[in-house]
Amino acid sequence: MVAVRSHERSHPGSSERVGDQWVSIRPIERTDASGLSDFYDRLSLESRRRRFLGCVRRSGAELAAAFTEHDGQGFVAILAERGPNDGAVVGHATLQPDGTGGAEIAFAVADDLQGRGIGHRLMDAVVAGARSAGLRRLNATLFADNAAMMRLLRDPDGSVVSDSIEGGVEEIVLAV
Ligand SMILES: CC(C)(COP(=O)(O)OP(=O)(O)OC[C@H]1O[C@@H](n2cnc3c(N)ncnc32)[C@H](O)[C@@H]1OP(=O)(O)O)[C@@H](O)C(=O)NCCC(=O)NCCS
Repeated sequence: MVAVRSHERSHPGSSERVGDQWVSIRPIERTDASGLSDFYDRLSLESRRRRFLGCVRRSGAELAAAFTEHDGQGFVAILAERGPNDGAVVGHATLQPDGTGGAEIAFAVADDLQGRGIGHRLMDAVVAGARSAGLRRLNATLFADNAAMMRLLRDPDGSVVSDSIEGGVEEIVLAV
């Protein structure tokens, strides 16, 4: 397994302003399972459909168990603001090494916080994490009409080396 380097745990000093929210972005850990389960249970059906390419049947608990099986295979965005939702998971990016120098990546951001820059911050963390783990390629699979995800993939500090569409599903490979 290739793990991304561990950073500091979330705390107010490491949070940053993203749009009009304060969030911390850090590598995922096994102890995030409960927060991640709540995050996926709250995600709308449409966002789950886009995230899992139509497969929306797994519960938040099942997803969280799978995603936190190993430390360091992705990143979480944690809300860092005083109030009832302080500490909640509001974004999740997976980075699953394929054993050949590449990794499959996928993203989800809480519906009410989409379009405020959290996706871009997660992408920055994914690219930096991939580089520090010695990975050279990132593969993303998305519905071809997913404009927001497309923006994230066109923007990072890397380059698209292949882009193919079949049956409405697009596969993009970035060199990092
Ligand atoms: C895709 C997703 C992770 C992006 O996260 P986000 O926090 O909304 O992204 P950002 O706010 O950083 O915005 C990224 C870009 O998309 C644009 N964007 C956001 N929502 C958009 C929408 N509905 N339509 C078109 N563009 C959109 C933003 O304006 C921004 O553009 P910019 O690069 O010019 O600044 C989020 O929309 C999401 O969780 N979608 C559902 C799950 C999903 O589609 N996952 C991808 C499959 S791997």
